[in-house]
Amino acid sequence: MRNIIITGGAGFIGSHVVRLFVNKYPEYNIINLDKLTYAGNLANLKDVEDKPNYKFVKMDICDFDTFYKLMQDEQIDGIIHLAAESHVDRSIKDPFTFARTNVMGTLSLLQAAKLYWESLPEKYEGKLFYHISTDEVYGALEMTNPEGINPPFMTKASSGKHHEAYGEEFFLETTKYAPHSPYSASKASSDHFVRAFHDTYGMPTIVTNCSNNYGPYQFPEKLIPLFINNIRYRKSLPVYGKGENVRDWLYVEDHARAIDTIFHNGRVAETYNIGGFNEWKNIDIIKVIIQVVDRMLGREEGEDMDLITYVTDRLGHDARYAIDSRKLQTELGWEPSLQFEEGIEKTVKWYLDNEGWLNDVTSGDYQKYYDNMYGDKTIE
Ligand code: NAD
Ligand code: TYD
Repeated sequence: MRNIIITGGAGFIGSHVVRLFVNKYPEYNIINLDKLTYAGNLANLKDVEDKPNYKFVKMDICDFDTFYKLMQDEQIDGIIHLAAESHVDRSIKDPFTFARTNVMGTLSLLQAAKLYWESLPEKYEGKLFYHISTDEVYGALEMTNPEGINPPFMTKASSGKHHEAYGEEFFLETTKYAPHSPYSASKASSDHFVRAFHDTYGMPTIVTNCSNNYGPYQFPEKLIPLFINNIRYRKSLPVYGKGENVRDWLYVEDHARAIDTIFHNGRVAETYNIGGFNEWKNIDIIKVIIQVVDRMLGREEGEDMDLITYVTDRLGHDARYAIDSRKLQTELGWEPSLQFEEGIEKTVKWYLDNEGWLNDVTSGDYQKYYDNMYGDKTIE
């Protein structure tokens, strides 16, 4: 497979996937397709933008005609689809945008890929539509052990790279979909369309559902970069509800490596869950972040704890997410590379060292810069 479109490549996870593929596979043509919404930022890919196997195309995934033409012009054999509206809080305020991009946009890509691939003599042979989804489609797990437990099988499966488990149940690939937020409902719907294109037309598809990611280049509306930034400027830290919701955190480069493994070796029509058995209560993670930021800024460790401010809970706030990724670990040999404590140190250091990036994405300056830079390479 040589000509690959990665959608959403100027966003958080997508930029890590593009970087990995461009650097690791010089023989592939990698096309980063992104509309550059508020969350897309080409500064995330400055280090690969001049590579001969990389091209950026500014495009809305809902633009069927232009996408179909791009598939023909570039003779695309693989699509790794990450472009999406991704923030739960925004979806609560503006669900339509989520349905448009996540559902209609995904359907538009699928339909264009179908028409193009079915027009070829070899049809679907050697082709793949790989859809990146989230664990949030499975709904929420119960917190049966609010203090946290340590099931032995988890220790083995994760090579000790987990925190604690707050319940016996985990999301499996067979867990019934039960999305609660407009974001997760739109992602669930797009997952169903992807599987329907396999089952109905025989399109080779794969869906993966990953837990919360953290690491460099995440837009600072999400918990970890937002809080690092606020601690630096001594702004309050808005903790939703009691801060007891549990999320399962994976370092973004480990997700990108999993996507690489699955894209090349995953079985068609399968679903793989991706996660590092690394559950944390929000309040515990926030305390760790405060300690690390304080230490790195030469402040007394923990002196910024008083920035914690409990605020009204998010509507429909899911209690607990926890991924069982043993299928991926045993079938394809992937495992997370970093302990959380190591990953969070790297992450905090990156945000503190890259203040300019943070200021740019929050001021919108990057939009102006890249409109000029890529004016002549834009298809619209
Ligand atoms: P992000 O918000 O950082 O980036 C999304 C990218 O998609 C941006 O570059 C944006 O410009 C682009 N985009 C949005 N609408 C578009 C449109 N209509 N046309 C073209 N491009 C468009 O998101 P992220 O956190 O990197 O997430 C990437 C994918 O991974 C999403 O599909 C998300 O559901 C999934 N996911 C995210 C997480 C997480 O923790 N962030 C976890 C599991 C799965
Ligand atoms: P977030 O980063 O938005 O990811 P998701 O909602 O996809 O899990 O939020 C992670 C957790 O942190 C979630 O339980 C909501 C909580 N949260 C806060 O308490 N305060 C905040 O300001 C944000 C953005 C999130």
